[in-house]
This record gives sequence, structure tokens and C-alpha cells, in this order.
Amino acid sequence: MSIALIVLAAGQGTRMNSDLPKVLHELGGAPLFAHALASGAALAPSRSVLVVGHGAAAVEKAAAQHAPDVLFARQPEQNGTAHAVGCAAEHLAGFDGDALVLYGDTPFISAETLQAMAKARAEHDLVVLGFEAADPDRYGRLVMEGDRLQRIVEYKDASDEERAIRLCNSGVVMAPAGLLLDLVAEVGNENASGEYYLTDIVEIANARGLSAGAVRCDEAETLGINTRAELAAAEALFQARARARALDNGATLQAPETVFFALDTHLGRDVVIEPNVVFGPGVTVENGARIRAFSHLEGCHVGAGATIGPFARLRPGAELGNDARIGNFVEIKNAQVGEGAKVNHLTYIGDAEIGEAANIGAGTVTCNYDGVNKHRTTIGNRAFIGSSTMLVAPVSIGDEAMTASGSVITENVPEGALALGRARQVNKPGLARRLFEKFKSERKKRTGKQ
Ligand code: UD1
Ligand code: CA
Repeated sequence: MSIALIVLAAGQGTRMNSDLPKVLHELGGAPLFAHALASGAALAPSRSVLVVGHGAAAVEKAAAQHAPDVLFARQPEQNGTAHAVGCAAEHLAGFDGDALVLYGDTPFISAETLQAMAKARAEHDLVVLGFEAADPDRYGRLVMEGDRLQRIVEYKDASDEERAIRLCNSGVVMAPAGLLLDLVAEVGNENASGEYYLTDIVEIANARGLSAGAVRCDEAETLGINTRAELAAAEALFQARARARALDNGATLQAPETVFFALDTHLGRDVVIEPNVVFGPGVTVENGARIRAFSHLEGCHVGAGATIGPFARLRPGAELGNDARIGNFVEIKNAQVGEGAKVNHLTYIGDAEIGEAANIGAGTVTCNYDGVNKHRTTIGNRAFIGSSTMLVAPVSIGDEAMTASGSVITENVPEGALALGRARQVNKPGLARRLFEKFKSERKKRTGKQ
């Protein structure tokens, strides 16, 4: 069965109290809508439509980066969830599979739940996802008769008896795309909010003699984000799950509650993560690597068996070969570090390529930026960069070459050569002692102190 995913993301999110459209707020380093797309990916949709409205241009720009294949439908006015689904029609013409509707602000719907919905479609024309709410509050209520869903009533329009129902509507719906659009087109707006409610399609389907059913999930899955407090609570939940998943998949986390993951963090087996490590977006760590305490990683790839930190920063484009070693107070950006290379202390490597088994001494800096342009540094295999070398890019150091400590390297160094780029040392016998005496006698004259 081929699936079209429709993610509703046109709402403003007034209660976020923000200039940013709600679905651009981040959870686990990724905008909220990306979580809905990631949930929907469980059913391998052949197309995905994001319905945008509030802040449409900004949402489209972010979505194009995260999910280049996503299609956009604009909903110029937010007239309700049925109207929003109707806006996706242009992208569903001729599509003969099922449509799955998710909300852009509801990030935790699980793969198992969506699979259960797909299975329930064998028995019902229309399947809605419900949950038993601890505090049903203002959710729409599912009115059941046996295993048949009769209708969904919005809280504002519900009788006292209906409000007593604990089974609530999550908003997730699955139905054949053509049928869904047909039903949505019949929805009116005579209700307490004057909106076109997607929930009304259930009653319309029943009136047509079709069958609607409900799949139940845990309330935690349907958690929607409306406020900053809910966003913070969702972040805590996201992190708790990501930590549990990392442990299940064979990583050691010495203090799981102090490690922060992104939606797309990928850890291999037997990776060890020490306390207080932050993963921004786009990080892959291969088998057996060790990330030591207080390191920050984003947009990087760590090879098998590599060691990072403590106190290391890997920025976007850092690619570390197997068994590379990146030590304390080292920053790596847009650079390839070869297999077994060592960059152990107090160093900045940016826009560079470092060969296999090269050794970069303490305090080395690739001077990559001239205030206008960035330039590259290339360091050969087994090269030895002496401590405190300034590599003024563009510059290249040959295989097995060496730079003397404290050198400022402005010219290429051939393979196997030693480069000395510093002033020659001069020793003046006894001069230090004479200077100390002079300074002391001057101070005594000024202040009377010995
Ligand atoms: C909706 C359901 C309610 C359910 C609840 C679960 C309806 C009528 N009600 O109510 O039964 O219990 O979700 O959270 O469907 N959106 C658009 N365009 C619109 C309106 C909404 O894109 O015109 C998007 C919003 O951005 C949001 C989602 O649809 O992502 C849900 O809209 P919202 O207004 O939050 O619906 P609720 O009133 O919470
Ligand atoms: Ca809502």
C-alpha cells in the first residue's frame, strides 16, 4: 500500500509567544515539523505534503533543507483542520493509496502506532488514533459503539455526557486519499468555533455507510506542543527516549542524564560517552569510539575507535578517521583528520586536511581566515607539526615533513623537509640578573621599598 503523508503545520502557535512559526521551534536540535516527518517515515510514504500558512516562507525554507523531497501546500487562512487537509488536494490528485494526517506540533507518534493504524485499515475505511487522557481537558472526544467510531465531538460542542468520555482524539487520521478529500469537501463550519473540523469526517463517513475505527496509543505519544513549558517538557521526554535508545543499541553512557542528543544522532556499537556531552544535529559516531567528558559535537563524523575530548569541540564538516585522537581544548571545523592522526591539545584546525598518523603539536592554529576569505591547509601523512605553529593558509605541508615549534609557516613545506619559521635565539650572558638589579634599585628610589 502506497502512503501519502500530510503534515498540518499552518497554525500560528500564539501561546508560544514567539516571532517564529511554532513548527520551527527546535526539539532535539531539529524543528518540530521534522519530528512529524520522521514519525511518518515509519510507513515509508511515497510523498509527503507539508501544509504551511503562518510563516509559510520560513517554514518552506527550513523544510527544503531538512527534507528536500517534501511538497508544500499553502493554507492562506487557518480555517480549521479539515480546510488544511483540503489544501493538500493539489498534491494528491490521482494518488490511489492511503493518506496519513499528522500534526506538525506533535512529535512523538511512534512507528508501532502508525503500523497498528495501517493494519486497522483492513477492517475500517477510516482509522483515527485515540488515547485515554489522564485529564481529557479540551480534547475532542471519540464516541464509540463497540469497535466502531461513530463520531468525534469537539470539547466546545460536547454535551456534559460526551465530556465525561475519556477516549480523546489525537488528530492522527488514516484513510484512502481520494475518500479523505471527498469527506473533507463535505465538512461545514456550523460549530462553536466557526471552523472546518477534520473530526467531522467521521460522522459523514458513517452516514455514507462506511466504517470508522479507532486505534489507541499511550497519551505520551500524542503530546502536542503549544507553549514553551510544553516544549521544555517535550525536550526532556525526547532526551530520555534518545538515551534509552542509545543504551539499547549498544552504547555506554556513563551518566545518561547529562548527555544530550539530536533527532539524527547516530551511534555505533560499543561507543562510550562520558558525562556532559552534547550532540548537535548531524553527528555520526562509528563503532568503539570514545567521546570524553564535556565535548560538543555537531555536523561531524567520528571514525571507529577514535577518541574525542575531554573538552573538545567538533564543528560542521569535521571528519575524523579511524583511531584519530582529538584532545582537550581542540576545535575542528570543516576538516578531514586522517586515520590515527593526533591533535591532542589546545589547537584550532579549520578548512584543513590532515594526513594519516600526523601529529599536531599543542597550540597549533590553522590561520584560515584573512578577514574576507577562508583558505585551506593541507598536512601530509606522518607529518609532525611542532607546538605553537601558525599555519597561514593557503599552505601545504608535505608527507613526513616537520615544522619547528613556534614557527609561522607562510610557504609550502616540501615532503620530508624541516621548516623553521621563527627568529633565531640570542643569549646575553648575565643580562637578566643585571636588569633585575636595575629595576629593584629604581623601585627603591621611587617608593623607599626594598
Ligand atoms: C485538534 C482536534 C481535536 C484533538 C486535538 C488534539 C480538530 C477540529 N480538533 O484540536 O479533536 O483532540 O487536535 O491535539 O481537528 N492546523 C492547520 N490549519 C488550520 C488549523 C490547524 O494547519 O486551519 C494545524 C495546526 O497548526 C496544528 C494542528 O493542525 O498543528 C491542530 O490544530 P489545533 O488548532 O491545535 O487543533 P486543536 O484545537 O488542538
Ligand atoms: Ca492543539
